[in-house]
Amino acid sequence: MSTEKERIFRALKDLVQKPGNGICADCQLPEPEWVSTTLGIFICLKCSGIHRNIPDVSKVKSLILDPWTDSQIQFMAQHGNKAAQQKYEAFVPIYYYVPNYTDCQVLREQWIRAKYERKDFTEPNKPLAYATGYREGFLWKRGRDNGQFLNRKFVLSEADGNLKYFTKHDAKEPKAVIKVDNINATFQPTKIGNPNGLQITYLKDNSTRNIFIYHEEEKEIVDWFNAIRAVQFHYLQVAFPGTSDHELKYKLTRNFLKEGYMEKTGPKQTEGFKKRWFTLDHRRLMYYKDPLDAFAKGEVFIGSSENGYLVKEGLCPGAQSSPGWQYGITIVTPDRDFLFTCETESEQQEWIAAFNSVINQQMSPQEYTVEANFKHRR
Ligand SMILES: *[C@@H]1O[C@H](CO)[C@@H](O)[C@H](O)[C@H]1NC(C)=O
Ligand SMILES: *[C@@H]1O[C@H](CO)[C@@H](O)[C@H](O)[C@H]1NC(C)=O
Ligand SMILES: *[C@@H]1O[C@H](CO)[C@@H](O)[C@H](O)[C@H]1NC(C)=O
Ligand SMILES: [Zn+2]
Repeated sequence: MSTEKERIFRALKDLVQKPGNGICADCQLPEPEWVSTTLGIFICLKCSGIHRNIPDVSKVKSLILDPWTDSQIQFMAQHGNKAAQQKYEAFVPIYYYVPNYTDCQVLREQWIRAKYERKDFTEPNKPLAYATGYREGFLWKRGRDNGQFLNRKFVLSEADGNLKYFTKHDAKEPKAVIKVDNINATFQPTKIGNPNGLQITYLKDNSTRNIFIYHEEEKEIVDWFNAIRAVQFHYLQVAFPGTSDHELKYKLTRNFLKEGYMEKTGPKQTEGFKKRWFTLDHRRLMYYKDPLDAFAKGEVFIGSSENGYLVKEGLCPGAQSSPGWQYGITIVTPDRDFLFTCETESEQQEWIAAFNSVINQQMSPQEYTVEANFKHRR
């Protein structure tokens, strides 16, 4: 390497080591290897692809592959991720879902466009589409029986505290009225088979109900998502006065801890193993025949270690093994043992970690009520 190249290389290395520059400015992935030379930020390869789509505000360049001049290095030194965050994320609403590198493309792209293209967060009290407390429009909703997506009118209202949808354009009565305090909305592009696919889960008569929706436009579906969060947040502020905004934020619609296929046996544990789709929503383990079913076939409550819940690797001694999958898990509950098998060891370990993260937490008084209600239903 020539001394000149070496000097530039060292200058860039120093820059990356400055606080804030060691993780992607947009998704927090460590060791970003790209930059936006117009915004002065260090970003990862995936986010650089999104920045390329907004050439009016961002020009990207590789830290490693592209040539650098002193003035470009100086520009980066004067800006950087910390400064950009102070400018472009100054007024992010507390309920707004800020994605990271584990989130799907549509969330990450709309976050980047909201920050730099629409400049949603650079000044206080900007009128934002998702902040009004009311939203109505048409979304594609998957039909429960035939799996076809149909155009349905949805209305979200903070004043009414609910989300409704209508099956006919002129219908007076909604098909469903979903109270905002029990909605969980999560993006599920792979499962739904659409990059903008959103799953909405809610409780109906104490059972979980799923609906699957999308909108062709990325901004629209992400606006719906944040509008639901905004309405939920304001509901929580009223329901829990005196609780800090920061704490309330964690009560907002949340992602599932883990989803995937496992095999399970019935209560007698002699009926053979059946493959099912499992979803763990905090203490609620639900299973489905098909990942897109509206209702769970069954639900298992996962309590805490103090009240007799335990997860063990392998199947309990004496239990029949599965002819299919070999990596067993036993969940011990005060009522009975549940036996599961996973296809791979890594799936098994991930499920065990997810169950333990729940079992190792103490239960709140509300969760004891939920547990009692689970028992009551069986
Ligand atoms: C990324 O976001 C998810 C969902 O909010 C969160 O569980 C996870 O801890 C985050 N990861 C990092 C590295 O911040
Ligand atoms: C959704 O999230 C809330 C908390 O926001 C939680 O109480 C509820 O059990 C979750 N699941 C369903 C199906 O509503
Ligand atoms: C749902 O659970 C609550 C307690 O959590 C109970 O009071 C109510 O009767 C249950 N409703 C149904 C329809 O089972
Ligand atoms: Zn990134």
